[in-house]
Amino acid sequence: MADGSIEIEVDLPDGGVLAGIAEVVREGLSSPFKELPPKYFYDERGSELFERITEQPEYYPTRCEREILQSRASDIVAAAPRTLIELGSGAATKSRVLLDAMRDAGTLERFVPVDISEGITRRVASELTDEYPGIAVEGIICDYETHLERIPRPEGALIAFLGGTIGNFRPAPRRSFLARIATLMYPGDRFLLGTDLVKDRARLEAAYDDAAGVTAEFNKNVLNVLNRELDADFDPDAFEHVAFWDEDNEWIDIRLRARAEQFVDIRALDMRTHFARNEEMRTEISTKFTRDRIESSYADAGLELTDWWTDDEGLYALSLARAV
Ligand code: SAH
Ligand code: AVI
Repeated sequence: MADGSIEIEVDLPDGGVLAGIAEVVREGLSSPFKELPPKYFYDERGSELFERITEQPEYYPTRCEREILQSRASDIVAAAPRTLIELGSGAATKSRVLLDAMRDAGTLERFVPVDISEGITRRVASELTDEYPGIAVEGIICDYETHLERIPRPEGALIAFLGGTIGNFRPAPRRSFLARIATLMYPGDRFLLGTDLVKDRARLEAAYDDAAGVTAEFNKNVLNVLNRELDADFDPDAFEHVAFWDEDNEWIDIRLRARAEQFVDIRALDMRTHFARNEEMRTEISTKFTRDRIESSYADAGLELTDWWTDDEGLYALSLARAV
């Protein structure tokens, strides 16, 4: 690929980003405790709603992460990475801070935003091609869990996973994801991880139940996705948004609660599912971390923590690691 070009990989050979949705949703809705994976939030509207969440006064993680990136950018790129690979890049608003630091250091050659959400990734790739003339921008539209090993990984990369999105994994997939990343890293590569930190319940719960109701809308959007993709007839208004701090698991548990007893047809699955009144279906977890937990997760995965930075209030952390 020539410098300054833009390349978008849409449907990787074994299927698009929604490959497997039927099986995953069938399994999730067939279990006694219903559960859907959070990756299906992010259609066009879901990505827009997430961006609006980041602007809500209660949702501190994005602002904290930006603050740390702005004050630590030159330390973060001290290993002189030539490529920024960003997992779950979304609107890539904060990526610009890293790209600017790499450009200022004279090392920036390539940006690889990786995201399941097609529209936003196309937009980001095209905007950044204009904003950073002379670099290669290669947008990859894929599920980073199923396609991690297929993402281009040139030597001398900074692999960034920002926003606290690692917290949306369940513990076992999180462990294996970190281990897979460690395996992919060359000796000079660095892994930059954004993690929200354990803190008081009130602050955490407010961040996931903003007064303007944007998080509630985002949560219900998964039902619109199932309606469209699987010809289902969920009524989003028949569910209410629930988010509570689970102290034992150290995660925010995000659910949809049926306001009344109801049946939902999912025609593409030839399936009818029943919700009792007040039945809750989990749609996401958002795990919060401590420095010890991150250090030991890194060690288990074959990574070594080299740097740890928090915002002034100590609400959120960025850490840098290398493979051992
Ligand atoms: N990094 C950005 C966006 C965070 S939102 C920020 O910090 O603001 C989480 C992003 O991860 C969304 O853009 C979503 O589309 C993407 N995402 C979620 N699950 C994914 C998966 N399995 N594969 C690829 N991208 C995923
Ligand atoms: C993308 N991810 C880190 C967000 C979070 O905070 O867990 C998604 C989100 N869900 C509700 N609000 C924000």
